[in-house]
Amino acid sequence: MAAALTGFLARYQNVLYYFQECCRPEWISFNKTGLIVEAIEPVSTSLLLGTGAAVLGRKLYRYLYETCDNNWLKFNATGLKYDLDTKLYGQHVAAQVILKAVTGFMNNVNPKKPLVLSLHGWTGTGKNFVSQLIAENIYQKGMTSSFVHLFTATAHFPHETHIDKYKTHLQEWIRGNVSICPRSMFIFDEMDKMHPGLIDSIKPYLDFYENLNGVSYRQAIFIFLSNAGGEKIVEVALNFWKDGREREEIQLKDLETALSLSVFNNRNSGFWHTSLIDKNLVDFFVPFLPLEYKHVIQCGLAEMVSKGRAPDKEVVEMMARDLNYFPKEERVFSMQGCKIIPARLDFYI
Ligand SMILES: Nc1ncnc2c1ncn2[C@@H]1O[C@H](COP(=O)(O)OP(=O)(O)OP(=O)(O)O)[C@@H](O)[C@H]1O
Ligand SMILES: [Mg+2]
Repeated sequence: MAAALTGFLARYQNVLYYFQECCRPEWISFNKTGLIVEAIEPVSTSLLLGTGAAVLGRKLYRYLYETCDNNWLKFNATGLKYDLDTKLYGQHVAAQVILKAVTGFMNNVNPKKPLVLSLHGWTGTGKNFVSQLIAENIYQKGMTSSFVHLFTATAHFPHETHIDKYKTHLQEWIRGNVSICPRSMFIFDEMDKMHPGLIDSIKPYLDFYENLNGVSYRQAIFIFLSNAGGEKIVEVALNFWKDGREREEIQLKDLETALSLSVFNNRNSGFWHTSLIDKNLVDFFVPFLPLEYKHVIQCGLAEMVSKGRAPDKEVVEMMARDLNYFPKEERVFSMQGCKIIPARLDFYI
């Protein structure tokens, strides 16, 4: 809030600068006798005013309308790290991979391909949430930026019979938007429910091409979200738990092979049919671990704060106890992750 206010004031001052010319030294000059005179003759004055108005117009436009430049689009590496450290619970592997991948890509002035991340895991573990955190640390308007595009398979591409139409529309959408802003972000949710032909149709944009029909896609970011491989990840996490090992001991390498193989071999995952993996178009597979009771508590407390209430552990614990956990006997992992907490909490407050 404070940062937004400071930003607004700084811009507001810029606007004032153009209106308050009478008070600024650039607009007046002293002659040798000490009299204030008009610095320039009328033609130059109109010209100057015209230019001033144009600059002011441009500044106002940039202030009011989102543009694909530093005013609206600036990567905040510290912000992303802070958000991943403090707002994302129980995902030490995902947080580490995401931070490295996004920071490395955004700091590379000449990437050879767009960044392609594939986020996998059990429901309600933070895949959409992380996409939001990434967007918020690149685009001033976060998920509401006109350079961030979210597609949900079942909502945007529901009918298999329309697949050819979807393909054309999707390709045109990506091409059109990357032409307007090379640093565009495309998030594909429910990737496991996406028609393989549709995934195939976006493949060229994920590749190493310098440009396709005059458009370069190398600055773009593609994020795929799915539950594919979620069970494999749960299996690894459960084995750690059964062996009495700390969750934080789980490393990417413990999950990576199992994940990519399971995704590759799963006919229903969508990826199976395509050569996304074959051609190494996905830069990072990011595993999301199933969340435990303690993470549900953290989510609940954060949710109370976001509702403008004082965090109340008793209330949150009451809610967390009533949720479903698996395996049935041990009750280790939350069945819905943190997903239904906002709705559930209202019931207990
Ligand atoms: N690991 C987490 N840390 C903090 N909050 C979380 C986490 N996981 C989920 N949440 C909270 O729960 C909400 C729902 O999570 P999210 O939509 O990101 O789940 P998801 O992994 O995309 O699930 P699904 O596979 O069902 O789509 C988030 O908006 C966030 O408030
Ligand atoms: Mg989701």
